[in-house]
Amino acid sequence: MNTLTLSTVEPIVSKDRASLFAGPAHVLVRELTALDRERLLTHFLALDEDDRLLRFGQVVPDRVIENYVRTIDFKRDTVFGVFNSKLELSGVGHLAYLPAEGDKRTAEFGVSVLESARGQGIGSKLFERAAIRSRNTHVTMLYIHCLTSNSTMMHIAKKAGMKIEYAYGEADAYLTLSPADQSSILAEMLQEQAAVFDYALKRHARQASRLFESFMPVAVAA
Ligand SMILES: CC(C)(COP(=O)(O)OP(=O)(O)OC[C@H]1O[C@@H](n2cnc3c(N)ncnc32)[C@H](O)[C@@H]1OP(=O)(O)O)[C@@H](O)C(=O)NCCC(=O)NCCS
Repeated sequence: MNTLTLSTVEPIVSKDRASLFAGPAHVLVRELTALDRERLLTHFLALDEDDRLLRFGQVVPDRVIENYVRTIDFKRDTVFGVFNSKLELSGVGHLAYLPAEGDKRTAEFGVSVLESARGQGIGSKLFERAAIRSRNTHVTMLYIHCLTSNSTMMHIAKKAGMKIEYAYGEADAYLTLSPADQSSILAEMLQEQAAVFDYALKRHARQASRLFESFMPVAVAA
């Protein structure tokens, strides 16, 4: 097993409050609930075979994805999403809490972004939010499992200062987290509020546009 430690790269989650908002400001991450299952399903079913392999470690058929989405336990885990203007999920991050071992608490993070929305910082923002949530829920270690060929995810992990262990074409990336503080708690609260507000605006805009469209034929006929 070959271990690469990027000790020169400071983990993003140990920076000060201002840095916690680093990354594109227009990417807003909202916490999802069981009410979002249908949108989650649409998101995951839109991933092609290559993306399913990268996200789930194997090319999973639709029925496995359906089962995965149906059984997500929102009371135990946390799922984050980034919505586009059509209220579709452009990106999804799943933070799954692993059983605690003494004082050590680990959470595993999995992420996917629709192909059409990549390269805009959505994956990084979802990771950043998962790291802050982990800190705020007493997680000491954030973990990502991915293929070594997944150069984009490897890049995000290295950028965050994760310690990476390689074996047989797969990589385990670990980030040791500092305990929660006022900044991390405030940062998460503000991010969530901004995302909820943004979602509400998008929903109203969509309703207004639908209403307008329903009057259009009348307007044209008149
Ligand atoms: C990995 C994934 C989530 C990234 O999402 P994204 O929204 O495009 O990511 P971001 O835009 O935040 O960041 C991409 C970063 O990788 C870099 N990047 C893009 N393609 C790259 C490549 N081929 N090699 C190395 N770096 C690459 C970008 O330049 C950017 O870096 P920067 O922030 O320093 O500028 C997305 O590609 C995806 O859903 N892939 C399929 C599923 C998957 O691989 N999940 C991860 C395993 S759990």
